[in-house]
Amino acid sequence: MRLQAQGVNLAYDTRLIAEDLTLSVPDGKVSVLIGPNGCGKSTALRSLARLLPPRAGQVVLDGKSIQDTPTREVARRLAILPQVLSAPEGITIEDLVWFGRHPHRSSLKVPGERDREAVEWAMTVTGVADMRDMHVDQLSGGQRQRVWIALCLAQETDIILLDEPTTYLDVAYQLEVLDLLAALNKDHGTTVAMVLHDFNMAAEYADHIFVMSAGKLVAEGEPKDVLTPELIQHVFHVESRVMEHPVSGKPLCIPVRGKRTSQPAPGRSASAAAVTSGMR
Ligand SMILES: Nc1ncnc2c1ncn2[C@@H]1O[C@H](COP(=O)(O)OP(=O)(O)OP(=O)(O)O)[C@@H](O)[C@H]1O
Ligand SMILES: [Mg+2]
Repeated sequence: MRLQAQGVNLAYDTRLIAEDLTLSVPDGKVSVLIGPNGCGKSTALRSLARLLPPRAGQVVLDGKSIQDTPTREVARRLAILPQVLSAPEGITIEDLVWFGRHPHRSSLKVPGERDREAVEWAMTVTGVADMRDMHVDQLSGGQRQRVWIALCLAQETDIILLDEPTTYLDVAYQLEVLDLLAALNKDHGTTVAMVLHDFNMAAEYADHIFVMSAGKLVAEGEPKDVLTPELIQHVFHVESRVMEHPVSGKPLCIPVRGKRTSQPAPGRSASAAAVTSGMR
């Protein structure tokens, strides 16, 4: 596999988030990482994209430690949509999407036809081309999310990592973004790995699901093998029914109201705990 975390320890300052985490991103497939808030999904994804150096172990891209691979070289092969994004003040959509071409351009060269085509394509498929001159800070959450996805696509990498790409999107755009990623995977063999919270979207689109809990990988495999009531109970402390999706035949997970079964995980706020206990 081209991208692997091999026994990594991931930490912020002195706080260890994941210990001895091994995660191999399947080539040419769509993978989805699920897990409770704060379990380390974004941390893991950031380390896979070279944004967070492991304290121990290593992330390997194409047989070489990613930390030893120059940023530009990594960025030609791998794009990441982080969970938290901030654009330079006053930048337009088109100018932001052009950032995706940086890894492909030398600083001296004027942009070429290929660069322009990639930017146009990325803005068109994400539905932001008509708004190209608008300032990014004037957009709605969903519009902004699509612009960031366009930036990743303009990078034209064969691995793309996305941290909650469907946050802020209405259901139509959720499907559009996920269909687009699925098409990139199918037509170009692009490896897609993304964090999603919605089990049912994960089941619909993933070839492979990774489940994280408290910094550990606790399950992985095909949606039908992974998304069971037992797993959902174990990891999310929620009772659920899992049935077959009437159209796709994929698992359809339905949480049961009022059946949250254990204390909130450590690290959740007191107010969240109060709300949860109030629901019982
Ligand atoms: N920059 C940071 N500095 C210090 N601690 C951090 C930082 N980012 C995340 N953490 C901590 O690391 C842990 C894992 O966070 P992470 O963002 O990876 O979780 P997550 O699984 O992506 O959660 P969510 O579903 O809420 O996005 C959390 O306890 C969080 O408080
Ligand atoms: Mg996260």
